[in-house]
Formats: sequence, C-alpha cells, structure tokens
Amino acid sequence: MAEKLQFYGRRKGRPLRRTMREMLETRLPALRFDPDRDPISQFADTMAGRPEELFLEIGFGGGENLAAIAAARPEAGFIGAEPFINGVASLVRHVEQGGLANVRIWDDDVRLILDSMADATLAGAYVLFPDPWPKRRHAARRILHPMVLDGLARLIRPGGSLVLASDHPVAKSWLLQAACAHPGFIWTARRPGDWRNRPDDLVPTRYMKKAEREDRVPNWFLFQRRHG
Ligand SMILES: C[S@@+](CC[C@H](N)C(=O)[O-])C[C@H]1O[C@@H](n2cnc3c(N)ncnc32)[C@H](O)[C@@H]1O
Repeated sequence: MAEKLQFYGRRKGRPLRRTMREMLETRLPALRFDPDRDPISQFADTMAGRPEELFLEIGFGGGENLAAIAAARPEAGFIGAEPFINGVASLVRHVEQGGLANVRIWDDDVRLILDSMADATLAGAYVLFPDPWPKRRHAARRILHPMVLDGLARLIRPGGSLVLASDHPVAKSWLLQAACAHPGFIWTARRPGDWRNRPDDLVPTRYMKKAEREDRVPNWFLFQRRHG
C-alpha cells in the first residue's frame, strides 16, 4: 500500500529558524511515533505508567489543539500525524514548553501508520479543518477517503469518538456525508448547537482562527464508533 500513496499537501514552508531546526534535530527522534512498536508501550518511555487511552489527531497543523488536549489529559496518550515540517516543529516546541510526556509525533502521512496499530487501539480521533479539496476532480485527495475512514473505524474502539471540523462549505458536506455513510459511525448531534459550538475540550486552531477572521463559520461534527 505504502508505495501507491501520494501526499498532495506541503511538506515545507518558510525556512525554520536555527533554534527551531536544532530543537527538531535534538527532540523529534525521542518523540517520533514508532510504527514498529506497540503504540501503548512506547509511551512508557516518557510517561510514569501506561496511558489509559490513546487518541490520534490527523493533520495537527501547528499542534495548538493537540498540545492543549494532551496537557489537559496527562493520563492519556496522544499521537499526532502531520507531514508539514514547520507544523511538526511548532508541536515539538509546544511539547517542550509544556513539558508534555504524553505526545508522540508521526511526521509524515497518517496513512502510513494506520495499518501498524491493532483493532480498537484508539479511544478517539480528530480531523480538524482538513484541506478542503473542493473540486470534484480532486475528491480522491480528501483526507476522509474510504481507506482512512475504514482504518479509523477499525482503530477506534466501540463507543469511542471521531471529531471532525471544517469552515469550508464543500468540506463540511464531504466530511458529514462520508462519516454518516460509514456503517461504523453514528453522528451524535441532536440540536444545531451540537455542530455550531466548539466542543469544550478543544482549543481554537490556526485554521479555525483564520476562518473566523474571514467570517467563515466553523462547524464541529461529533461521531461515535458504533458498538458491534
Ligand atoms: C488546513 S490544515 C489544518 C491544520 C490544523 N488541523 C488546524 O486546524 O489549524 C490541514 C493539515 O492536514 C495535513 N494533512 C493533509 N493530509 C494529511 C495526511 N495524509 N496525513 C497527515 N496530515 C495530513 C496538512 O499537512 C495540513 O497541515
């Protein structure tokens, strides 16, 4: 599978400042998620005990949300996947500054690690403000294509959560359609506030702030992994 994958986003942005480059070189190796090791036990290298639960954030951008949820839940482990090296450097800095022991970083395409984890490994996953790829001819580039959604359905334990967010009208529609159509997930919304309000435990990400500055309305779609 790995050879056929193509990543269409940016891997590099502005050149990193020397301090950030050095931090990446010295700190990332110890923080890097290792797909050849059991995901739970690799957190024991830095955490006092085994993490009670594991979460995955796909495309964490600058890592603001991942660092905040990891700081709020030190007993849980958080894996972040992001191929954009400037974003990875930003998360490494958040981890250093926050003294976070419960974060592992996969600095590449998430699709390369999904198969490495056993069924029901995750308590939840986040896909926040993914690249919208609004044109139909680019639909295959959208992050929730069936392979990823099937992978998440396998990895998230029954009753676990899948949190999706977007400010882009086309992306909102394909996120919702894809997850609603998947037999493994149930949309938990009961009233408009459930998709209009940011869940209390999440923090504004860079893309969410940009959307609000530009008067685009973010929505949050909370799904539950179906039992059975
Ligand atoms: C629009 S940005 C949003 C970033 C962040 N979630 C936020 O809200 O600020 C989408 C991110 O998804 C990442 N991404 C796209 N495809 C990915 C993949 N296959 N695996 C992991 N990350 C991916 C991109 O590199 C990009 O940083």
